[in-house]
Amino acid sequence: MTGFPAARLRRLRATPAWRRLTRETRVAPSQLVLPLFVREGATEPVPITSMPGVVQHSLDSLAAEIHRAAEAGVGGVMLFGVPERKDAVGSGATDPEGILNVATRRAVAEAGDTLVVQTDLCLDEFTDHGHCGVLDARGRVDNDATLERYRDMALAQAEAGSQLLGLSGMMDGQTAVTRTALDGAGYGDVALLAYAAKYASAFYGPFREAVQSSLEGDRRTYQLDPANRREGAREAALDVTEGADVVMVKPAMGYLDVLADTAATAPVPVWAYQVSGEYAMIEAAAAHGWIDRERAIDESIMGIVRAGADAVLTYWAVEAAERMTS
Ligand code: PBG
Repeated sequence: MTGFPAARLRRLRATPAWRRLTRETRVAPSQLVLPLFVREGATEPVPITSMPGVVQHSLDSLAAEIHRAAEAGVGGVMLFGVPERKDAVGSGATDPEGILNVATRRAVAEAGDTLVVQTDLCLDEFTDHGHCGVLDARGRVDNDATLERYRDMALAQAEAGSQLLGLSGMMDGQTAVTRTALDGAGYGDVALLAYAAKYASAFYGPFREAVQSSLEGDRRTYQLDPANRREGAREAALDVTEGADVVMVKPAMGYLDVLADTAATAPVPVWAYQVSGEYAMIEAAAAHGWIDRERAIDESIMGIVRAGADAVLTYWAVEAAERMTS
């Protein structure tokens, strides 16, 4: 049987040296962004039960974690605030002394030029009803009234020193409104990350505990239907025309087709968010001994980059970065 099979793909897989040389996709620590939760009033980090290994930080533990992340070569951090008090309009989001803005000032001071400090620009952490916007008289999320809150939130975050605002609320026009407001206030250098294709996903479950969200109902009137692929690409294209510097697809693993579509067409960097539920699934299965934890983590991140992500938001950013360089 000489000459058969004609194609022997195993040649290039034969040794670690071959596999390393012929690898198509590489992931570097600088492509990873670490989401961080900061809890108002906390003096110690508070564990998040559904995300083993992830905590709500105090300001001091936030500072320490930023140094760890920078040391590992991580590209950036994305900050989320967990306020002590919530109300209907999410007042804490626009208060310069609100936890997210306080944490941002601290993070920027600690990080210097080592990594990019980013902030979540959404109201759900700050509203008592848990929605990403303000409600109208009938209890529906009011798009245009919410845009006014986002505009004020953008200015507060820029003032606090955030370098990249993560527009995760899925309101129509949010990118254009924030860009205009920032430029008008002299913050032309603050960049915008539009959560362009953010799906109404069950995989945000553990995040609700992380930010102590009291959401009743769901976000289906503003986040994308998981069935829709074309609409994801349309959202991304729209956000680019509105001035997005980076667009995001979220969650990651269930939406790799949307990610690949967006990466193929967007003229800006495309990022993906490996969300809380993706984290929890792997941690839980590994805790049972059902999968190899480290391999599963690294493979999951590789898959997201292979599908087209230029960077990945992942709760494993520091651990994965340390493995890459060790
Ligand atoms: C909105 C926001 C959410 C997440 C990031 N930004 C929650 C939601 O839309 O329901 C989820 C992130 C995760 O699950 O890890 N502020």
